[in-house]
Amino acid sequence: MPKVVAVIGAGTMGAGIAQVAATAGCAVKLIDTREAALENAQKVVANSLQRLVKKTLMEQTAAYAVLKRIETSSDLNQAASAAVVIEAIVENETAKAQTWTQLSTICSEMALFASNTSSISITKMASAIKRPERFIGLHFFNPVPMMKLIEVVRGNRTSVETANAAVELAQLFGKTAIEARDFPGFVSNRVLMPMINEAIYCVYENVATPLAIDEIMKLGMAHPMGPLALADFIGLDVCLAIMEVLQQGFGDPKYRPCPLLRQLVAAGKLGKKSGEGFYSYAGK
Ligand code: 3HC
Repeated sequence: MPKVVAVIGAGTMGAGIAQVAATAGCAVKLIDTREAALENAQKVVANSLQRLVKKTLMEQTAAYAVLKRIETSSDLNQAASAAVVIEAIVENETAKAQTWTQLSTICSEMALFASNTSSISITKMASAIKRPERFIGLHFFNPVPMMKLIEVVRGNRTSVETANAAVELAQLFGKTAIEARDFPGFVSNRVLMPMINEAIYCVYENVATPLAIDEIMKLGMAHPMGPLALADFIGLDVCLAIMEVLQQGFGDPKYRPCPLLRQLVAAGKLGKKSGEGFYSYAGK
């Protein structure tokens, strides 16, 4: 088991990853340059643990111990002692490359380097570090403490040893690892996002109301959440960024983002996190 796991980026995914790593018994360094994000992440983890305690999935004492194992910092140098580094910053290729270039000079060359990217090329990202064979994609799903899957994505230069270590890590985190190849959107978002985008086109073309579309997919397809509620949950900005990666990566017009998605993002209506998307979350 890795003693220290560094999680870079304290957004929704980073907080969730820190929680599952700490639950597995690792000492976690949760690092973000934004102090407010670190404070919020601590609250998010505490709330998530309380949900698990309420559902009798965790003992209260264990929940306290998990919180204690997460140390927050705004200093990237804190990743130096980590045996595993998991990056979960904003879904932007330039920002990720810059962070990985910095981490490459800070971290041990023997560490396992993983990105939680949802669609950006692992092969390209790995080229920013000195040991690309130790780099891999570990794609977690939101809400991380609840979702059972980690999509494991090998880059062109990822070694077999790294892939094996990543699968072991996923198991340690209580997740099922399933491998996908390094193509835009991997499998999960290549299948999920066009479905969400198509649901948004249904709203745009007034085929049905958002509620009707979601109920059709929930009751007719047994999806736990409708595609529009799920889009709000993931973040409409994240959905747009992934559609753009698919569109650019494949050059196929079938991946064009719906103009309504672009408009909502431009208006700052990003879904649950901003209080409004296809639904209103005011006061929740
Ligand atoms: N920690 C954090 N959030 C939790 C949680 C926990 N321990 N337990 C539940 N939640 C969240 C839910 O999302 C929701 O939020 P809200 O109450 O604040 O509105 C709420 O807590 C619902 O909790 P419930 O206990 O009532 O619901 P269930 O436990 O029955 O199911 C669910 C919740 C597991 C989220 C289920 O609805 C589900 O499976 N939804 C689909 C989620 C999904 O598809 N995720 C993948 C998204 S794609 C992705 O992440 C990839 C990325 O690259 C885009």
